[in-house]
Amino acid sequence: MIDPALIDIIKAAKRVVVFTGAGISAESGIPTFRDAQSGLWEKYDPEKLASAKGYRADKDLVWGWYEWRRMKVMQAQPNAGHYAIAQLAEQVPDLTVITQNVDDLHERAGSQTVIHLHGSLFQPRCFACARPYQFENTALDEPIDGRCLAPPSCQHCHGRIRPGVVWFGENLPTDEWRQAETAAKNCDVFFAIGTSGVVMPAAGLPVMAAKVGATVIKINLDSMGLEKVAKYRLQAKSGDVLPLLVDLLNK
Ligand code: APR
Repeated sequence: MIDPALIDIIKAAKRVVVFTGAGISAESGIPTFRDAQSGLWEKYDPEKLASAKGYRADKDLVWGWYEWRRMKVMQAQPNAGHYAIAQLAEQVPDLTVITQNVDDLHERAGSQTVIHLHGSLFQPRCFACARPYQFENTALDEPIDGRCLAPPSCQHCHGRIRPGVVWFGENLPTDEWRQAETAAKNCDVFFAIGTSGVVMPAAGLPVMAAKVGATVIKINLDSMGLEKVAKYRLQAKSGDVLPLLVDLLNK
């Protein structure tokens, strides 16, 4: 299943980047972005909900969707793939995690510095003055069953609170993007795990790594994508193959 030459390449690496998408959290029960929406949300197009226009059109609907997603994450646990990435960091001199996910499962699995390119469900801010908003209590008062929910008001300007995620049409956070580009352009090994690689500019990171001669390793359930860029393509669940890979590195 895993080419011994790949293990040697990872063992020899000085700087490793792990770039993840929604697929790494799928085995924790968090639907991927392009899975069909489930339940009450199946009639909504996620790309409409994940936009400033969608929020302006119906703040309660969009806030309710994000709170439902935050609840799903709070009820979820990191899976074996998240833990394996945290262990991998102990086995190589330098490892950077860059994620497109807005959940906190990498952190809860023990990964230290995680670069969130698309923001986080846990960092809401005011839609008017952009000041960060502190959730009154991290636990949700009552289970969110996917209903509309009025967003809270900003403690400073009384504007409405929005999710701290990057919406379609918005720029990525400058510092995080710069850190991600630098890591991709200076690594020896670049893992692209559980991402469909369709959303730029994040999807350009594996190409940047390949351009500087890094070995790009794709781990994904499906075979499509990164054909020209990934030297190794492991078609499997990340929760299955990453622990295997970490074990082989220990041998
Ligand atoms: N193991 C590995 N890969 C998996 C698994 C799994 N258990 N389950 C699903 N996948 C793969 C799917 O085959 C798919 O290629 O994960 C990928 C998930 O792709 P998307 O749903 O498109 O998620 P992602 O790539 O993270 O989307 C990128 O697009 O919609 C925006 O902002 C959103 O951050 C998101 C970005």
